Amino acid sequence: MSVDVREFERQAERTLGRAIFDYFAGGAEREVTLHRNVTAWGTLDLRPHVLRGIETAGTSATVLGAEIAAPILVAPIAYQSLAHPDGEVGTAKGTAAAGGLMVVSSRTTMPLEEIAAESQGAPLWFQVYLLKDRGWTAEAVARAREAGYRALVLTADTPILGRRRRDERNAFQIPPAVVAAHHRAVGSPSRLAGRDDGGLQDPSVKLEDIAWLGELSGLPVVVKGVLRADDAHACIEAGAKAVVVSNHGGRQLDSAVSTAVALPEVVGAVGNRAEVYVDGGIREGTDILKALAFGARAVLIGRPIVWGLAALGGEGVRQVLEELRASLARAMVLCQVASVGEISPDLVARMRANVRRLDS
Ligand code: GLV
Repeated sequence: MSVDVREFERQAERTLGRAIFDYFAGGAEREVTLHRNVTAWGTLDLRPHVLRGIETAGTSATVLGAEIAAPILVAPIAYQSLAHPDGEVGTAKGTAAAGGLMVVSSRTTMPLEEIAAESQGAPLWFQVYLLKDRGWTAEAVARAREAGYRALVLTADTPILGRRRRDERNAFQIPPAVVAAHHRAVGSPSRLAGRDDGGLQDPSVKLEDIAWLGELSGLPVVVKGVLRADDAHACIEAGAKAVVVSNHGGRQLDSAVSTAVALPEVVGAVGNRAEVYVDGGIREGTDILKALAFGARAVLIGRPIVWGLAALGGEGVRQVLEELRASLARAMVLCQVASVGEISPDLVARMRANVRRLDS
């Protein structure tokens, strides 16, 4: 059965109510980056092979040694109980059923141990914001390690929060029933969406914090939110084992470069020294194939996961991930490549022409 993720989105718009839908769907300021993330993938042309006798494609992949059914990771998403009562546990179960990997937000509505206990062995990574109170971060990281999380994902693009005009317009507040489970220890958050770390979050996060997190946890550190070659290089030098090319789904700096445009530059700088992943606007198997052709090892999916969760709980998450996997496999057969490892840069038409077209 084919799943229509757009229909899940339309359904979410009807059922979640304007303010909650906008909280997940919206971006920063004029939402230029939010929209360009999506269109940028579409403007890249594929150059498929023919007549290679490839009838089926295998999508299995590994990220930092974890085996997954497809190079498709669940992005860290805050406050998932806003979308569905299954919340993060539902997403973990859906991810496990699809053979995937979930990056668990540090702003979950359920404790990280409970998510791990229900994740049925699916690999989990823990997303980290550094708070001014490093003791809190150390405690959360220790808990994540103890609960079996396999990597830390440091969000690098949020020294302060981007301006979300939709949330302002809707005067959006996280409802009192929805609690940021890991933040209880540091006192009661203001309830303004996304700002509940307000004064707590540390805007002075630096490259040295990558090594600090690595030493603290003994876990590989992934840096999320890198858009430039020089930053990618610096992150690897500072100890990152992977970087995520990301503009936070267009929710932080508006007019930040779209991730499809930034990806080749970052891959070029990183080479074989670390893994590179990408998120932002990825909606189809062809988008994933293009990302892999540019040298990403995997993609992260955010909003479509929320729409699946909102529609059907954990089962919806499973369906979205399966649909994306099937869509990637279809694109691979149509390009006549049999495995993820065979996806090469020449499958995408020259980048420069595409950049020009994007700007025209
Ligand atoms: C938090 O990371 C958000 O994008 O709202």
